[in-house]
Amino acid sequence: MRILGIESSCDETAAAVVEDGRKIISNIVSTQISIHELYGGVVPEIASRAHLEAISSVTEKALAEVGGIDNIDAVAVTNAPGLIGALLVGLGFAKGLAFSAGKPLIPVHHIRGHVAASYLSNPDLKPPFVALIVSGGHSHLVHVKDYTDYTILGGTRDDAAGESFDKAARVLGLGYPGGPKMDALAKEGNPDAIHFPRVHFADAPFDFSFSGVKTSIINYAHNAAQTGKELNKPDVAASFSKAVCEILTEKAVLAVNTLDLPEKRLVVAGGVAANSMLRSMITAAAKKNGISLYIPDLSLCGDNAAMIAAQGFYEYSIGRVASTDLNAFATESIELK
Ligand code: KG4
Ligand code: ZN
Repeated sequence: MRILGIESSCDETAAAVVEDGRKIISNIVSTQISIHELYGGVVPEIASRAHLEAISSVTEKALAEVGGIDNIDAVAVTNAPGLIGALLVGLGFAKGLAFSAGKPLIPVHHIRGHVAASYLSNPDLKPPFVALIVSGGHSHLVHVKDYTDYTILGGTRDDAAGESFDKAARVLGLGYPGGPKMDALAKEGNPDAIHFPRVHFADAPFDFSFSGVKTSIINYAHNAAQTGKELNKPDVAASFSKAVCEILTEKAVLAVNTLDLPEKRLVVAGGVAANSMLRSMITAAAKKNGISLYIPDLSLCGDNAAMIAAQGFYEYSIGRVASTDLNAFATESIELK
């Protein structure tokens, strides 16, 4: 079964064709980074307009690989969560395309899509597993019991991991997009130079909090400015990254070790899964704990439509199809209950 995926939840306009949830036929991503760079972050109204400008040509390119919409079996689209105006562009376009071509329309939860990116990079991966989902707006530990059966184990009580990287990058004057810039700078620094706080909750071992570490880096930078000390930015970036990555790694490993899984499997998904320190730290911890680790290829960690088409295949298999009244939602639980 060939599914056309469409994604426009934030700052990438994307379309892709995936076969049976696993094989990428085409994968087109048009990024808006150069547009939002000017403002130091994503401007929702500008994002919606840029999606409108790009969506037709991006979809045309993705469909060209299969000879057009006639050779597609269904259209999967991200309808939640995300920037509402941005989501509505992709959703409106997908609706029009699906109904004019007489194809089923499949709504896909963006974060479930991030998890499905792992199926594209790891053909043998099957649920059940624990997923550590770390993106710009989400930080969750989830028990993925089946392709469409999710139970949240814990989540962030304040900022998401990606958001904390973005804020730290802003404090250091690195600009947007902050995560990749922090990653690059951290490679040049000493991760043990500064101790930033790690937050644990006695009653909720799988919950995260990143607001403390964020405040801590802001205070550190202000103190340096007030006392006229020069900030060693690589050391700050490396130490901050270590604090965030350690927490993510520890809790993910604890979740796998705590759950009664038939096989110890851990998936890391979302934009922050591209972080090199997180990838190496969690790889080492998984090895030590006998956990099979699955992280998508770097090219599939960020927003793309192949992951939406992949998850669309599994949503379709349980009959999740929508009609023309399908709406977009800025927030929606990954459990979809
Ligand atoms: O999943 P994603 O592309 O979009 C959302 O669904 O939010 O994640 C974007 C987030 C941003 O906060 C970005 O700074 C972060 O992922 N990110 C990174 C890296 N690449 C992207 N954070 C740390 N290190 C990276 N290499
Ligand atoms: Zn995303």
